[in-house]
Amino acid sequence: MFKDDLLKDKRILVTGGGTGLGKEMATHFAKHGAQVYICGRRGNVLEDTANELKEKYGVDVKHEPLDIRSPQDVDDYIGRIFDEGPLDGLVNNAAGNFISPTKDLSSRGFDAIANIVFHGTFYVTHSVGKRWIEQKCKGSIISILATWVWTGSAYVVPSAMSKTGLDAMTKSLAVEWGPYGIRLNSIAPGPFPTEGAWARLSPKGDISEDTYKAIPLGRAGKMEELQNLATFLMADGCEYLTGQTIALDGAQYLSGGGTFSNLSELSDNDWSEIRDIIRKANNKDKKNRS
Ligand code: HXC
Repeated sequence: MFKDDLLKDKRILVTGGGTGLGKEMATHFAKHGAQVYICGRRGNVLEDTANELKEKYGVDVKHEPLDIRSPQDVDDYIGRIFDEGPLDGLVNNAAGNFISPTKDLSSRGFDAIANIVFHGTFYVTHSVGKRWIEQKCKGSIISILATWVWTGSAYVVPSAMSKTGLDAMTKSLAVEWGPYGIRLNSIAPGPFPTEGAWARLSPKGDISEDTYKAIPLGRAGKMEELQNLATFLMADGCEYLTGQTIALDGAQYLSGGGTFSNLSELSDNDWSEIRDIIRKANNKDKKNRS
């Protein structure tokens, strides 16, 4: 879909880039010429990923353990990267989540999610953004959210609340930092099964083929679709696009809200019967009026 050197000379940090969606995006950026940085809580996982990408694609991915819940550690880490040269892009991908009835959550359970998603993502964004402004550099920030930012979501309330906050951050900073050439967009992926997320969101296989059938496109997302959108948002050429959260979900969340969404299941015969019933009702009305 893109030229091989589309992201040449761009330096991009992907938080939580050692696994899951973060690893997929980091891989795609690197394959398109970017110098990629990945961070995450587990140093060994980051190292394995960097080695794997080196072996498979010959790309050099820089990695360092980082817990984004610590603002000081975040600022020190971002400072070390900028000492080598300014970043051009940031992907706020690191997150934490698990399903639980909200009444059973302890305050520490709530904080476990909010500290990573809400606070941690702000710390990284702030640390990168203030350096871009100081150094008069342009930049692109992508945050990985969820369609819950529009619908809310039962059973993952700390995540839904936190990601909704990041949607507000995306819109707010697009305005505040737009004059500096910094743009912020977010991606709200539908189901893109990964080991880490599915162990916590579908521990008993609750998100199954039936869930996918209910999605208008009838399937889960393909990783390359996410990779392509993230790469497009990171590349030059569409800088006027900022402040947007883009759903990448096969119209899943729109279909849940419509009164008639479930009618997709009807067959042609069902529709023909329905048409007859409606026609009969119309004719009856007309007769009554005449
Ligand atoms: C209820 C739970 C719980 C559970 C943890 N807690 N798991 N409460 N149900 N299943 C509570 C604990 O009891 C404890 O409270 C508190 O949370 C902190 O637990 P820790 O295990 O000490 O937390 P921590 O080590 O900080 O781990 C953070 C984590 C963990 C978020 C809980 O799951 C994690 O590290 N996840 C990282 C990766 C991840 O979650 N990936 C999925 C992202 S999916 P008490 O009071 O008992 O001390 C995503 C969106 C996907 O973000 C969108 C798809 C459409």
